[in-house]
Amino acid sequence: MAISRSTTDKVRERADIEEVVNDYVPLKKKGQNLMACCPFHNEKTPSFSVSPSKQIYKCFGCGKAGDSIQFVMDIEGVGFNEAIKQLAKKYGIEIEEEHNATPEDVEAYNEKESLYIALGFARDLFVQNLREDEGQSIGLSYFKERGFHEAIIEKFDLGYAMDSWDHLHQKAKTAGFEDDILLKAGLILQKESDQSRFYDRFRGRVIFTIHNLGGKPIAFGARKLGNDKNSPKYINSPETAVYHKSDVLYGMFQAKKSIRNEDNCFLVEGYTDVISLHLSGIENVVASSGTSLTENQIKLIKRFTDHVTVLFDGDEAGIKASLRGIDMLLEGGLNVRAVVFPQGEDPDSFSRKLGSVAFKEYLKVQAKDFIAFKIGLFADEVALDPIKRAEVIRQVVQSMSKIPDPIIRSVYVKESAKLLEMEEEIIQAELNKMLLKITKDHQFKANLQNKETVIEDFLPEKKTEASLKETQIAHEREMLRLLVSYGFEKVSEGLRVCDYLLQEMEDLHFETPVYQRILVQYKGALAKDVLPDPEYFLKQEDQEIKREVISMITSKHEMSDNWEKKFQIYTHRETDDLSKTLYAGILRLKRRVLKKMLDETIQKLKVAENKDVVELQQVYLELKNFQIAIDKQLGTVISQ
Ligand code: CTP
Ligand code: MN
Repeated sequence: MAISRSTTDKVRERADIEEVVNDYVPLKKKGQNLMACCPFHNEKTPSFSVSPSKQIYKCFGCGKAGDSIQFVMDIEGVGFNEAIKQLAKKYGIEIEEEHNATPEDVEAYNEKESLYIALGFARDLFVQNLREDEGQSIGLSYFKERGFHEAIIEKFDLGYAMDSWDHLHQKAKTAGFEDDILLKAGLILQKESDQSRFYDRFRGRVIFTIHNLGGKPIAFGARKLGNDKNSPKYINSPETAVYHKSDVLYGMFQAKKSIRNEDNCFLVEGYTDVISLHLSGIENVVASSGTSLTENQIKLIKRFTDHVTVLFDGDEAGIKASLRGIDMLLEGGLNVRAVVFPQGEDPDSFSRKLGSVAFKEYLKVQAKDFIAFKIGLFADEVALDPIKRAEVIRQVVQSMSKIPDPIIRSVYVKESAKLLEMEEEIIQAELNKMLLKITKDHQFKANLQNKETVIEDFLPEKKTEASLKETQIAHEREMLRLLVSYGFEKVSEGLRVCDYLLQEMEDLHFETPVYQRILVQYKGALAKDVLPDPEYFLKQEDQEIKREVISMITSKHEMSDNWEKKFQIYTHRETDDLSKTLYAGILRLKRRVLKKMLDETIQKLKVAENKDVVELQQVYLELKNFQIAIDKQLGTVISQ
């Protein structure tokens, strides 16, 4: 139910930031502000400040900031409405519902409330069943066998669903629940043959209750007991009005406090992994419940910590399949570490095998930062193939560029250089490029969002001397990239790309020294009938050449992007359309040179003595005609 505007306004007025924060962390006066050690990250010297005059808090360490409502949302890990409710309670403010709520809103709200009540009833029943004869002999003994003691059973609302078609349905009916609500809560199912008849969804299984952040039951996972191959291991609640699987992580209610305290969240696969870790004294653990991670689940973790340690089962295929999830965590701004267990072990089995102390020690010792983990995973393949190595560098660097802390990043550079047997500078150079690109993107987005930014910022940049030079370098680089990557493809029958390009470039000299050196090497190799492909250059002594070539072959996509935006060269489908791409590229390169010569001529003309003027004018005109001709050709090449 939407809370009325006037209620939230009242809460905003009354909820004094100093009072609200003081409920959680003791504040000390320092000048105009109040300071404390930040409750959102670990620190020894206070950098968390509260401004009573502005009614805001801000941490200069971790950057969290907001008003009193935001503070409650952050510290309790709740949404806006829940924060309003908590503060309203604290200040004795009556909650009014939104007056213009539609009847549909009201109905939806009422329905959700009914679902919560029905699910609470079911939870109580499942928990109670565990104490009945059948539950004790089947359910409870199963849990006991797995080492789950009474306290943990209670903590997780573990239960048992009787081996009956309608045990729950009958009990719920007697308690006054409508079939419709039980159906919508996912507790009962309609018979196909007779839609007026129902049966229980969960039968003869042990029950894992799934809670929302506030601890209300919203769904159940029911595990089979026997080894019946024909029935699924788990039967889970369906999506309902109160259970959106993709927004939920199993165990979050029990874990959230510990996640915040430890400033880390262990991520496992299954219900039983979560519980076993609790048994080992590790409470900051949640499960993705066997499916791939979603963006909302990552956001949920991020409300409590920036650090995730992913615990993988010891099965390599499974690990590689989960790499996408790890990339998503990195993209979500989380620091990711990973632990792999021995073949055939999962966190549940392995924690029981080692016992609590040794298991914790194992996690501590084995937790690898994500980069080391990823490189380690591909180590065998990488060793064999230099081109694959370039691809892994690109991937690793890309992951690294997502890491916010520059000190950690530089550690990774060293580490990955060692693991990949590459020079640090190469990795660093790639990383810098990637970071620059990200910064530019961010700045652009930030500018778009910041209305105060002056409009000039968005005007296309004027072509300065520097940007002309940049363009020239990019053209030269593109030529070399095409030469190195596609030199031996055929443009037409009997004509190779390299022959064609080198012929075209006969009268050109590259301005960038290293590119000129590469070009000379390239020609030299051809003259000796050696294939100057990427590998040829990777074997070179010249570090700069090596770095450039690696960068050319690893940053293909990035290049294409830039070219499209900056220079209006369309490089996609370039292998289909090779000769056209090359031709246009060459023309552009020549045009740049012409432009430069033209500019120089103009400068000379400005200061020329009379006797030289005519000659210079002729040169100018000739060059200009050349340029027009090239422009025309470029037009046809591109519009074709
Ligand atoms: N899962 C599911 N349905 C299945 C199998 C698995 O929903 N048929 C989900 C459950 O959330 C489960 C998780 O995937 O917890 C991991 O699966 P698995 O490792 O097979 O189950 P565990 O919970 O580890 O159970 P156990 O320790 O008894 O093998
Ligand atoms: Mn498992």
